[in-house]
Amino acid sequence: MRSLLVTGGAGFIGANFVIYWTRKYPDDRVVVIDALTYAGNRANLARVEDHPHFQFVQGDIGDKELVQSLLVDGKLDTIVHFAAESHVDRSIHEPDAFIQTNVNGTHNLLKVARETWLDSDDAPATHRFHHVSTDEVYGTLGPDDPAFTEETPYAPNSPYAASKAASDHLVRAYHHTFGLQVSTSNCSNNYGPYQFPEKLIPLMIVNALTGKPLPVYGDGSNIRDWLYVEDHCRGIDLVIDRGRVGETYNIGGNNECANIDIVKIVCAAIDECFATRPELCAVFPDAPAAGGRPTESLITFVKDRLGHDWRYAINATKSENELDYKPVENFDSGLQKTLGWMLDNESWWRAVLDGSYREWIAKNYT
Ligand code: NAD
Ligand code: DAU
Repeated sequence: MRSLLVTGGAGFIGANFVIYWTRKYPDDRVVVIDALTYAGNRANLARVEDHPHFQFVQGDIGDKELVQSLLVDGKLDTIVHFAAESHVDRSIHEPDAFIQTNVNGTHNLLKVARETWLDSDDAPATHRFHHVSTDEVYGTLGPDDPAFTEETPYAPNSPYAASKAASDHLVRAYHHTFGLQVSTSNCSNNYGPYQFPEKLIPLMIVNALTGKPLPVYGDGSNIRDWLYVEDHCRGIDLVIDRGRVGETYNIGGNNECANIDIVKIVCAAIDECFATRPELCAVFPDAPAAGGRPTESLITFVKDRLGHDWRYAINATKSENELDYKPVENFDSGLQKTLGWMLDNESWWRAVLDGSYREWIAKNYT
């Protein structure tokens, strides 16, 4: 049995992970610490609020006393570290928060973990600090380059990627220098339920349903490797369970695709939904599909992102061989689940878009 501190558990992947973990390991204790930034939404955890071993704490990973008290008082033995500023575009416009949370915040967690788990008399018998990182630390690939392996040299290109690379190095150093029992996973682009609609796939879905332009950066040829979020959670579980301490593992979705093709696939899936479920026309009257027009008509090419990495691709051979990791979803099945969830949870994304989810949380959780 484990007792987990999940940082950033009210964000997209963190919330999916908490839902996954409490379902799979109902006897484990799960404490979430989340600062509830614009991307954090306690409503994402509504499904686990009544779980007998779940606790939510609003707080900053940079708050040393708070993190220390959670680890010591709760006798927690595992940290799964998701908390971060995660959006590349925001890091281009305002990088400071990325350094503060992703670098200094991670370092604070490592310091507290070291003091609590290595330098204290009543440390738990075993411990694990699992750090959730990204393929963006490896930089960008050309069309014929081999996919990223765990040996690919780091070459981060955006302030976001640089801040994640710095945090990966700190995690590695705390293992090498102090013997902290760490692991790191570097994964590709996630998509699925609860993703904040600033990221490509949920943004395209909400804009298509509300009749707004679908902004495609540059010529849309940039390639990402799409990973359904539950496959990512499964991969992290395997690393924590079977991964070797001090190692890093790549987690991918085997779904490389150009952005323009992703957007067109999303458009076609929406058209198909409206064709088979005519009641959607009354629910989303501003969607082109409600008027019989193709959703693709909303595609608009816009100015490219500064320093836009062209291609990411994950080679997950090490995870496959050592951990038996394999994604369950392909892009079609993952998109069906994601789109189905977005159609069934209009109130979630509308509240996120207009900010009213904050009032809902205040009413329900204070
Ligand atoms: P997200 O932006 O949806 O969620 C981040 C969460 O962290 C939010 O709940 C936010 O409130 C919380 N947070 C931010 N600053 C904090 C602080 N100082 N203290 C406590 N909590 C804080 O992000 P996500 O997409 O769920 O990503 C989670 C992790 O996975 C990140 O570390 C990210 O770098 C990594 N990752 C994401 C993807 C992806 O495709 N989304 C891919 C690879 C890696
Ligand atoms: O690769 C993993 C990374 O994936 C994570 O580390 C990041 O946290 C996560 O945000 C994501 O980064 P990207 O920049 O790849 O994701 P985003 O959804 O912002 O963009 C995906 C691609 O789509 C990228 O090439 C930029 C493009 N794009 C994005 C948006 C928001 C558009 O063309 N239009 C858009 O409106």
